[in-house]
Amino acid sequence: MNQNKRVIYQIYPKSFMDSNGDGLGDLRGICQKIPYLKELGVDMVRISPFFKSPQKDNGYDIADYLSVDPIYGTNEDLDFLIGEFKKAGIDLMFDMVFNHTSVDHIRFQKALAGDKKYQDFYYIRPPKEDGSLPNNRTSKFGGPARKEFGDTGNYYLCLYDKSQADLNRANPDLRKEVYKIINYRLERGIKGLRFDVLNVIGKDQALPDSSGDIEEEKKLYTDTPVVHEYIREMKRETFGKYDDVVTVGEMSSTDIENSSLYGGRETGELSMVFNFHHLKVDYQDGEKWTDAPFDFLRLKEILNARQVGMDEKNATNALFWNNHDQPRANSRFADPINYPFESATLLAQTIQLMKGVVFIYQGEEIGMTNPNFKSIDQYRDVESKNNYEILLKAGKSPEEALKIIGEKSRDDSRTPLQWTGGEEAGFTTGRPWIDLAENYGEVNAEKNLSDENSIFAYYQKLIKLRKEEDIISDGKYLPILEKDPQVFAYLRELGGEKLINLNNRSDKEAEVDLSEILDDPSSYSYLLGNYGEREAEKIFTLRPYEAVCLIKRDKK
Ligand code: GLC
Repeated sequence: MNQNKRVIYQIYPKSFMDSNGDGLGDLRGICQKIPYLKELGVDMVRISPFFKSPQKDNGYDIADYLSVDPIYGTNEDLDFLIGEFKKAGIDLMFDMVFNHTSVDHIRFQKALAGDKKYQDFYYIRPPKEDGSLPNNRTSKFGGPARKEFGDTGNYYLCLYDKSQADLNRANPDLRKEVYKIINYRLERGIKGLRFDVLNVIGKDQALPDSSGDIEEEKKLYTDTPVVHEYIREMKRETFGKYDDVVTVGEMSSTDIENSSLYGGRETGELSMVFNFHHLKVDYQDGEKWTDAPFDFLRLKEILNARQVGMDEKNATNALFWNNHDQPRANSRFADPINYPFESATLLAQTIQLMKGVVFIYQGEEIGMTNPNFKSIDQYRDVESKNNYEILLKAGKSPEEALKIIGEKSRDDSRTPLQWTGGEEAGFTTGRPWIDLAENYGEVNAEKNLSDENSIFAYYQKLIKLRKEEDIISDGKYLPILEKDPQVFAYLRELGGEKLINLNNRSDKEAEVDLSEILDDPSSYSYLLGNYGEREAEKIFTLRPYEAVCLIKRDKK
């Protein structure tokens, strides 16, 4: 399959569907919803980690890579799930989390018990000569990135939660164990691999102190040259032996240069990359835990530069607004209260007519929003809880801190999928592990499925168009109206065909002058729009949150 025709749907298993009434989503629950995924039209489903884990970071802290965590079911349930997806003709993608393991992992436990072999699987370092901590690195979840290694007097590196100990990829035995796990999944027919925080796996053995500047510090361990070597070796030893496996690396703070190597078709390390720059346009001075309006022009600039930059280097972007680590784009960049349908469809149309591989995160296809929790006790996520405390310590009032958490928390996208308007939104017969967003009476899958003009139906159309129209999957991307403060617009070109996508991301009408772009408006026809049919005009007026796509067919 032409990979740019692919649409991948991400499931966050804890919040997707609960089959046994314990309030937590599970594998059997996922199986119940395969017909729903089939109806949406996706080709592949990515399931976030469901492996054995103490759940300090909701499964990204793995204690045993080869066992299903009992909260999600059993290994037999997983075999059943794999079989059901196969029958449905939907491929599966699993998350591969190898930057760290949980401290509950047997290797870490053995290391703790004194086993030197396994101590070298991690970054265990003594204090400095003067007795101070081995380095001043900061955890991505707040606080220091090191923790006492039992009572040995040493420390281990933990770039994320304290319970997630960083693995030392420089150790060849460790790398072999990683490859064994990947091969085990590939042998069982898993066709997709999503590698967690992949571009930070090449840490310097000396772990030098940083200047204290967080951006400088990230450079010490991000996109180091050895990461490319590790990926190439991993490919040779695992997925490189297959020609139908799709791989995506989660690359934090990466640049186009490195991304084009990771996701380049000739360099061929991975099929594509996730990067996050476009989701940092509401950070104040680069700081996530701030309350700042988002910068629309910057958003356009970043997405446009990625599209053009990666294309020039023949490399592939993953296209996405949402995942389990991001607040809902719908709440963040649009207005789901006053324009629920228009907001969700506009955002979908903006990203899904770009070049790359589309990822949809559970719930966006029905217009789910941030929950706007009223108390910090409703949050479950370790990063959100840590940063709430950090904000209070920095002098914010509880109300101010809660507002920031409400806008930036990862839990914003982790509330249960809203299947119906009924009890607990049809997610569970028990009590959900995290509160639902209160709007499930209005925003739910059942309602979407009963309406042929729903957000879900719009997603179906977008997915279908990507399959049918080569210009969407393969056309050249050309930004237009780059300085327009309301409209995100671009052209796509393939042979003699042209497509124009106009998206008014504002609640005001927007008038754009297309006279230099549309040579002959009458040669364009309507392809898709969230206000219904439109004709091409040189001076084109878009209504609030209107998205319109027009196409000029090749005469030949
Ligand atoms: C990735 C995951 C995130 C997790 C982190 C540490 O960013 O997407 O959920 O917390 O890695 O594993």
